[in-house]
Amino acid sequence: MMAMAHPKLALRPFLAEDTPLLREIFRDSIAELTGDDYTEAQQEAWASVADDEAAFGKKLGSQLTLIATLEGSPVGFASLAGGNTIDMLYVHPAAAGQGVGTMLVDALEKLAGSRGAGKLSVDASDSARDFFEKRGYVAQQRNTVALAGEWLANTTLQKPLAAAGGAS
Ligand code: ACO
Repeated sequence: MMAMAHPKLALRPFLAEDTPLLREIFRDSIAELTGDDYTEAQQEAWASVADDEAAFGKKLGSQLTLIATLEGSPVGFASLAGGNTIDMLYVHPAAAGQGVGTMLVDALEKLAGSRGAGKLSVDASDSARDFFEKRGYVAQQRNTVALAGEWLANTTLQKPLAAAGGAS
């Protein structure tokens, strides 16, 4: 079924006070949506990235982080690092499959394109790889990342962006 944008969905920039809620979304998303691709030990290592709430908030604040809200409540977030890399994309499991991820990545692609990025790069989890491939991202290489004593595989994908203003 096609993901339909929910009428009560909106976007806004990240605020420092969002950090605790985004940490919950991050953890619940990993726990509920990545179990087909990663072991429980790998999921725990991945989620542990947010154990230090201050460091997690600092990372979100240092990137261009957007929050998707459903009737005003955050249900997902995505971040752009260095102008041309999607660093984070997490949707709460209760809101998955409703177009939240699509709305977030649409916005990051527009922002990056309007700021002059010629292409976007993402190291996508195996759980998110199909999502990005459907959007025109093309796999470049497989990676293995060490996290809290576990090895996690991901894939670097890239998508060329249309130049701002429609010029090619
Ligand atoms: N496998 C196959 N297709 C998928 C998947 C999946 N796991 N997830 C979404 N899709 C498809 C949907 O079916 C939909 O296709 P359609 O338009 O043909 O119906 C399309 O992708 C868009 O789906 P959305 O509803 O916009 O996506 P959603 O809001 O569910 O968010 C996301 C997708 C972000 C991958 C979510 O499932 C998630 O948070 N996953 C767990 C965390 C994760 O792995 N995040 C990425 C880490 S890598 C990184 O951060 C860069």
